[in-house]
Amino acid sequence: MGKKKRRIPEGEFEARIEGLSHDFKGITRLDGKVHFIFGALPGELIKFKYLKVRSRFSEGIVTEVVEPSPYRATPFCPYFGSCGGCSLQHISPSHQIQLKEQMLLEQLQSFGGLAPFELLPPIVGPDRGYRRSARLGARFVPKKGGLLVGFRERYSHYIQEMESCPILRPEISGLIPRFRQILGRTSIPDEIPQIEVYGVENGVFCTIRHLSPFAQEDMELLRSLGKETGAYIFLQPKGPDSIHPLANTSPPAPYYELDTMSIRLHFAPGDFIQVNGMVNEKLIQCAIEFLGPLQDDTIFDFFCGIGNFTIPIAKCGAKEVVGIEVSEAMVKKAIQNSTLNCVQNTRFFSLDLTTDVQEILQLGPRPQKVLLDPPRSGAKELVICLGETLRPKTIVYVSCSTATFSRDAGLLTQMGYTLKKVRVVDMFPHTSHAETIGLFRL
Ligand SMILES: C[S@@+](CC[C@H](N)C(=O)[O-])C[C@H]1O[C@@H](n2cnc3c(N)ncnc32)[C@H](O)[C@@H]1O
Repeated sequence: MGKKKRRIPEGEFEARIEGLSHDFKGITRLDGKVHFIFGALPGELIKFKYLKVRSRFSEGIVTEVVEPSPYRATPFCPYFGSCGGCSLQHISPSHQIQLKEQMLLEQLQSFGGLAPFELLPPIVGPDRGYRRSARLGARFVPKKGGLLVGFRERYSHYIQEMESCPILRPEISGLIPRFRQILGRTSIPDEIPQIEVYGVENGVFCTIRHLSPFAQEDMELLRSLGKETGAYIFLQPKGPDSIHPLANTSPPAPYYELDTMSIRLHFAPGDFIQVNGMVNEKLIQCAIEFLGPLQDDTIFDFFCGIGNFTIPIAKCGAKEVVGIEVSEAMVKKAIQNSTLNCVQNTRFFSLDLTTDVQEILQLGPRPQKVLLDPPRSGAKELVICLGETLRPKTIVYVSCSTATFSRDAGLLTQMGYTLKKVRVVDMFPHTSHAETIGLFRL
């Protein structure tokens, strides 16, 4: 019922903004109804136009700022507002972090029962050109000049028409027009829904998802894309297992480096890697500081991916670090990464941590310390197993969702853990996402 579409009023309306929603839209109340206004800040007097009208709320977007907030900044990207990638460019970067901290504290409070804890200064990095991996959408729209490549629009499923993106590393951003020109000339421009790109220490790696086979004559175009841009080209005709290098090319395995620890981590196209390299390195340092690895410690690293935390922790002197991850391919990479970095005190296992948590008990000596870094959905099942069965003394929880982090923090508190320290990690500046790291003790 709440979703029934209503007539959208035309023209501009004025409003005073009272607060911010959890996704950082300005909140105002008009005619007894909550309105969420994209691009508006608390205290501001703004003009807006309506985008959506529902029975219980409406949505709009700022068209003019009459009285600006002192925290307002000028968006630096011409696509800000219509592109769905960024939502906070109208807020100064330092205030964005304060807002993310406030949001975290509010969410933690809503789960109650938490003793006072220390909020440490945020972990920050550069606020532009930071993104080293991205999934770009593609769509063939002859009316708009051919193949569009970029992020989705904010209020539609269409692809934003864009020439570049200042959030991406420049070497990835620079590829966008080349993708448009070259892939748009293949025989199947309407069968290319997505291009995944990584810009890392040993080059740029692109995986082109295609829903029907490329024609033989397309191969020359794809090879020219690689030659002209210097990027390594991979094709993905089906699921992630089907990713393979373009015929007659032999690209190296991509890797990134953790400079301060002299660690090199290899991965495969399609694997998860932390998007912000500089912030990732600081995050790992903080995780190690929170864990304080000692000679006798067995430490479990849950949701370990390719060993991003496992290998640095193992190098810092723990007796053994056990990495657990659902993807068998990433577990294999993590094992290879241990060998390549001459790290011997690691073991890795593939387990689904939503269904197979009881199998953790078969993995050897129980850990004194645990790190977990789950996907956005959090780690409810694992957290219950930690609190009811494993009972490690120290838990370091890295999260990309303040909502599920707060929910799981509430659960840990009910099971006797205390949140000691927490820190916001600015992994994704200008977006509404916030990364968090928290230290829990029994
Ligand atoms: C946020 S990433 C973190 C990866 C790694 N810690 C890193 O820093 O690169 C989450 C990881 O959890 C894995 N994952 C997702 N669902 C899982 C599940 N049900 N059980 C175990 N691992 C899972 C993903 O494959 C991914 O590698």
